[in-house]
Amino acid sequence: MKKTKIAFVCGDCGSEYNKWQGQCHDCQAWNTLKQISLGNPRNDRKAGYTGSVEALQTLDQIVVAEQPRMSLTSAEFNRVLGGGLVPGSAVLISGSPGAGKSTLLIQALCELAKTQACLYITGEESLAQIAMRANRLSLSTDRLKVMAETRVETIAEAWDANQPKVLVIDSIQVMHSDWVESAPGSVSQVRESAGFLIQKAKQTGTILIVVGHVTKDGNLAGPRVLEHMIDAFLMLEGDADGRYRTLRSIKNRFGAVNELGIFAMTDQGLKDVANPSAIFLNRSDLDAPGSVVMAVWEGTRPLLVEAQALVDQSAFSNPRRIAVGFEQNRLAMLLAVLSRHGGLQVADQDVYINAVGGIRVDETSSDLAVLMAVVSSFRNQPLPQDLICFGEVGLSGEIRPVPNGQERLREAAKHGFKRGLIPKSNVSKQAIEGMTLYPVSQLSEALSILSDW
Ligand code: TYD
Ligand code: MG
Repeated sequence: MKKTKIAFVCGDCGSEYNKWQGQCHDCQAWNTLKQISLGNPRNDRKAGYTGSVEALQTLDQIVVAEQPRMSLTSAEFNRVLGGGLVPGSAVLISGSPGAGKSTLLIQALCELAKTQACLYITGEESLAQIAMRANRLSLSTDRLKVMAETRVETIAEAWDANQPKVLVIDSIQVMHSDWVESAPGSVSQVRESAGFLIQKAKQTGTILIVVGHVTKDGNLAGPRVLEHMIDAFLMLEGDADGRYRTLRSIKNRFGAVNELGIFAMTDQGLKDVANPSAIFLNRSDLDAPGSVVMAVWEGTRPLLVEAQALVDQSAFSNPRRIAVGFEQNRLAMLLAVLSRHGGLQVADQDVYINAVGGIRVDETSSDLAVLMAVVSSFRNQPLPQDLICFGEVGLSGEIRPVPNGQERLREAAKHGFKRGLIPKSNVSKQAIEGMTLYPVSQLSEALSILSDW
């Protein structure tokens, strides 16, 4: 039988095929198959066997060395990592161009380098560019080793020679290995380079931080297997022209997922935002209809965010429903519930909703706040400034409880909120000082409370 020397690999999921085909069977994507060359397979399968496997251990025999986490100077970065970097772990940081990935890492590494051997490898910027930025940010640059390189074999040599505790690769998409024949940036190059580097990190106990690009629609570019290989996957989000950036953990083998860190991009680089609720709550004193503050739960802490809605007579036969920072489908569903169980006809109205501050809310606890904002805009009736609102809305118009109700209310009370419109089941025996609760179990109850204000 003739041995296959080429294969076709899906650019999205990394599945391999012997023949080209239009659609990937695994992820259903079209036109993503690319040809790659494979190394010569061994003629004899048995040739790779050495017959020297040691007796296997049971789980309790494995010695777990106490490995303290390496703490970073940025408290927000630490929080997203679950309390610092774990030795031997591989972390992938992704985000759109200009999000601030390189800035975040050069800042973190300059600080870390004061106590640990660190190596920063850039494949995108020149060393002079990196140095210029570090100087402008007044970072301490005298300990951090840097290298401009894209060939993984050369990187491995520098790795062995310098034995860093932390190694940054910026970015994985430009890395290539002699061992793979395809062009840099191709699926097989990224996969093989990442696999090689991650394996080396595990063997040497080095912390590997890899920067990855995103595609147009915001997903990680390159092979899907990259996400499986790494231990933590963090996403840096935020408009390049906006002031705030959020760092979210999408996957973390050593901490909570969906943990959120918030940074401000200043002329001094990325700075931690110590009191995030305050920035999303930058409200003017004007009583504006269509605005209400919600308490969302991000990772392990509550966050107060203003939800805004604008409801306006539509000029189209197909009224527009636009959600910025919320999920579009959820908005359509909530409007249907509002019409069916709240008796409010918005079928001929354009509805826009927005989470202020550029944050993305994908928690269902925002449901009630979104509907209250919509109703407030529709009736042109401002809501009280000291009102906080959370609760999930079900399809039959019931208001469902959400986790961590008490902590959300406490955070709101800390910021001076005095009224809470919340699910009945979230009311706890312990009252919160200075906070009057308005518990509701049906949407209609919430609407009638609203009419009284
Ligand atoms: P960068 O870290 O190069 O982004 P990435 O590596 O994710 O592509 O960040 C570049 C952006 O950050 C750019 O839009 C300018 C902005 N920026 C500041 O506003 N202030 C600063 O001090 C720095 C270094 C960058
Ligand atoms: Mg960069």
